[in-house]
Order: sequence, then structure tokens, then C-alpha cells
Amino acid sequence: MAKVRIRNEIRFILNGRDVALSSVAPDATLLDWLRLDRSLRGTKEGCAEGDCGACTVLVGKLSAGGLVYESVNACIRFLGSLDGTHVVTVEHLRGPPGQLHPVQQAMVDFHGSQCGFCTPGFVMSLYALWMKSPDPSNEAIEKALQGNLCRCTGYEAIMRAARAISSYGKAAKDPLAVERRAITARLGAMHDGARVEIGAGKDRLVVPANVDDFAAVLDKEPGATIVAGSTDVGLWVTKHMRDISPVIFIGDLDGLCTIAEDNGVITIGAGVTYTEAFSTLAKRIPAMGPLFDRIGGEQVRNMGTIGGNIANGSPIGDTPPPLIALGARLTLRKGKKRRTIPLETFFIAYGKQDRQSREFVEAVHVLVPPKGTKFAVHKITKRRDEDITAALGAFFLTLAKDGTVADVRIAYGGMAAIPKRASAVEKALLGKPWTEQTVETAMAKYADDFTPLTDMRASAEYRALAARNLLLRFFAETSGTREPIQVSRHEAA
Ligand SMILES: Cc1cc2nc3c(=O)[nH]c(=O)nc-3n(C[C@H](O)[C@H](O)[C@H](O)COP(=O)(O)OP(=O)(O)OC[C@H]3O[C@@H](n4cnc5c(N)ncnc54)[C@H](O)[C@@H]3O)c2cc1C
Ligand code: FES
Ligand code: FES
Repeated sequence: MAKVRIRNEIRFILNGRDVALSSVAPDATLLDWLRLDRSLRGTKEGCAEGDCGACTVLVGKLSAGGLVYESVNACIRFLGSLDGTHVVTVEHLRGPPGQLHPVQQAMVDFHGSQCGFCTPGFVMSLYALWMKSPDPSNEAIEKALQGNLCRCTGYEAIMRAARAISSYGKAAKDPLAVERRAITARLGAMHDGARVEIGAGKDRLVVPANVDDFAAVLDKEPGATIVAGSTDVGLWVTKHMRDISPVIFIGDLDGLCTIAEDNGVITIGAGVTYTEAFSTLAKRIPAMGPLFDRIGGEQVRNMGTIGGNIANGSPIGDTPPPLIALGARLTLRKGKKRRTIPLETFFIAYGKQDRQSREFVEAVHVLVPPKGTKFAVHKITKRRDEDITAALGAFFLTLAKDGTVADVRIAYGGMAAIPKRASAVEKALLGKPWTEQTVETAMAKYADDFTPLTDMRASAEYRALAARNLLLRFFAETSGTREPIQVSRHEAA
């Protein structure tokens, strides 16, 4: 590998100004820095765990599609991860002289604010939406606001404000749109292809220059914490006070953030976020679209990666079960060496994955279900939006010409210590006619596969029953014998 140049500061733009920081703690959050160091206190701290959205700011980054602004949670976004970005806080919103910004004016006129604590966060989420979609549907507004909580207004006033923003001004005339070219040039000049290293010894952070450099850095620093979107790791710091240093930030690395399809296989780089993966996956594997819409809120989807979801190894991560059901494979890399394994074998036991020291997750390869096959995934939670899985079932089925089950893969989250296949249930289905009777017989086999736990999300009994019934639902969906009901708020409204 060519010698990598090292820079000892991170550079980004904060609102209108260039910032260069040579002293950054590996676990410093953007929120603390904004409020305590820069006295920008419009960005609030509510939960400090990515749930309430009071800390929402925009982060603009250069990507293949140009300069893209996304809402993020400043409370769990690390300062060290911002190299080469444009951070926009609520203080930067401007209207014509003497007037509020269109988003702010709409919130005032439609009574979208009462105590006001959540308001800057809502304003920033709506700002991101309005720039992307000036006349959004109710569904788009709800999706953009999934990660913002308000205890006062009951949301309807905020929804009305959101629908009215464009009557107060045009998104094309917004300063961030008008200045896009200048900001793009300034960010472009910051991208000098260098590795960033700040601090010394254990108290150190590194932003590798690219994926090859990441492999080299990890090789020398096997004990470092890898941080991609920080939607899991952020909470280790803000909630568990864990020492995560030294840290390697891999959020926007060249060579790790691409998603591409070749011959019916979609390869997703470990640094690809949910938002970046959405359009490809929802188009090619339609059942994944509604699932992604229910992972975290918009801010979490803008930061969190599928690679992080897998590497974290949580039994309630939402992407491993559908990816396992789809027969996905995982590429792990150590230095220059790579190995590719079936994803399901990566999960060994609770907290234990098949990942060696100095090895990292480089990509996941997902088979697009061939024509004629059936695939579904269903997530069960207490709330529809921004809730963690109690149980999640994913189903892949191929029927033979005579209507018998030629191939079946069923995987669950929330039912065991790892994301796991329902092998006994699959065995009971294989080769049998795809009928309700076969399915009901197979449902009795769940007890052979799973002994779920009772916790705050669901009781063991509930999980067991829900898991069985998801198979019945899949049968109804695929056989046309019953019309499954999908409840969503916009339909109910
Ligand atoms: C409010 C909120 C809501 C959430 N809702 C959901 C939800 O609905 N469903 C769900 O599944 N999850 C949810 N999560 C959890 C989290 O968003 C996901 O697990 C996410 O995919 C993690 O990705 P990340 O890039 O943020 O990972 P990080 O937090 O950066 O890292 C997670 C783990 O993976 C490791 N890691 C990351 N990348 C690599 C790599 N390339 N190689 C090796 N190790 C790596 C890290 O060291 C760490 O151990 C939620 C989180 C929050 C804060
Ligand atoms: S403070 Fe609640 S999401 Fe950040
Ligand atoms: S206005 Fe009080 S929390 Fe939203």
C-alpha cells in the first residue's frame, strides 16, 4: 500500500465557519462540544441515547450523488467522526431579513410548539425533509419525525406545520441550497486523502484514509473500538460510561460505503447506512422496505450501518434474520486476507461471533430472491415506530411445481441468544404440500428450536405464540387463503 499521509486534526464546517480541531477526546460527543465548547445551546439534550430527537442537527457529506444533508442525533454522534462534513445546527436557520425561516414560521403559526424543548429537534428534522421533499406526503412526514418525541403537542399541530412549510418559502431558495456549490468546494478541499490521528497512546482516535488503511491500522491496534454509525457504541459511552478508547472511526471510508448488484447478488459494504441501502433493497427485495422504515428513527437510519448491526451480534438486531433467510454471506477481512462465510455461522453464542482479532466485517452479500420464490419479514414490537424487536421472523420459500416445499429458510430474532434458524420447523415443512395443515403441524416444532426468554419487551409465552403465528401469517400471505392485515397510522387516519 502507498504510504499514507497523516494529519493531526479533524476539519469540518460548523454552520458557516471552517473548524480545525487537534485536540479531540475519542469519546467526545458532538452534542457536548456544541453546547459546552461552542455555546450553541439550541441543540438540546433529552435522552442522550438517540431516542427523543431533541439533539437533532444536520450533517452534510459529499457522496456519489453530491452534497447530501441528513438529520443525525448529536448526542450519540462522536466529534471525531465528523472529518470532512458540514454540521448545521438550529442557530444556522435563516429567513429573509427580519423574518423567521419557513420551517420556524410554520411551527409558530400552526402551534407546533408548547414548552419548546423538543422544538429545535423537530425543526431540524423538518428542515431536512423540506430540502429533500418540499411537498411531502403524510407518510413521508411521519417517517421523517419517527425519531422526534414531543410530550406536549400531540403531534397533530406539528403535522399541520409540516404540510404548510412550502407556503412560507421555496426550498430551492434556502441558504443551504443556494450555497451548495460553495460548501461542496470547501468540503472537497478538506478531503485530502490523509489519515487522521489525534492523541497518543490509549487515548487516541484514528480516522483511516480508506478501507486498506483501516485494515493496516486495525492490524497494529487490535484492541481499538471500531465505530461506524455509533448508534450502538454511542450508548456505551452516554449510558454505560464505558471507556472505548482508542477508537477507529470508519463511518465514511472509501471502499467500505458502496452498495452494488452483480448477477443477482447485492454486495453491501460494512459502512453503508440504512438510508443509503434503502432504495436498492426496497426495490430489489420489497419486503425489506417496510422493515427498514421501522428500524430506529430517521436520524438512527442516517447513521447506523448494516455492518454494525451484524458485527454487534445482538440477538434482537433486525437485519441478521432476514439476511440469514436470504442465504447471505459475510466477508471478513484481516490485513489483506479475506474470508467469506455464511452469515448464519457468524453468530456463535450470546456476545460471541466468528471474528478473529484484527479482523473486521467488510461486506455482506445478499441474494436477490429469484423469481417465483417467496420472501417476507415481520417485526413485532410494542410500538410501531422506533421500537426494539420483541420477536422478528423472516421466511424464504420455494415451492416445487406440484406445490410441495422445495426449499425453505426461516430465521428469527428475539427468540434465542443469537439470530437463529428454525431448523426443526424447516424440516417439518420440507417436501410437504404447502397447506395450512402442513404449517400447523410444523408450528408444533417451534419448541424444538427455541426457548425464548421473558424480558421487558415480551414474555416467553408471547414470543413463542407470536413466532408460531408469524409462520401462519406467511402461509396466508403466500397462499392467498386469507388477506393479512397491515395496520399503519396513515391508513388509519
Ligand atoms: C434510538 C435507537 C433505535 C434503534 N433501533 C433499532 C432497531 O429498530 N433495530 C435494530 O436492529 N437496531 C436498532 N438500533 C441499534 C443500532 O442502530 C443498530 O444496531 C445499528 O445497525 C448499528 O450500526 P452502527 O453503524 O451504528 O454501529 P456502531 O455503533 O458503530 O457499532 C456497533 C458494533 O459493531 C462494531 N462494528 C461496527 N462496524 C464494524 C465493522 N465493519 N467490523 C467489525 N466491527 C464493527 C462496533 O465495534 C460495535 O461493536 C437502535 C439504536 C438506537 C440508538
Ligand atoms: S438527546 Fe435524545 S436523541 Fe439525542
Ligand atoms: S413542545 Fe413540549 S415537548 Fe414538545
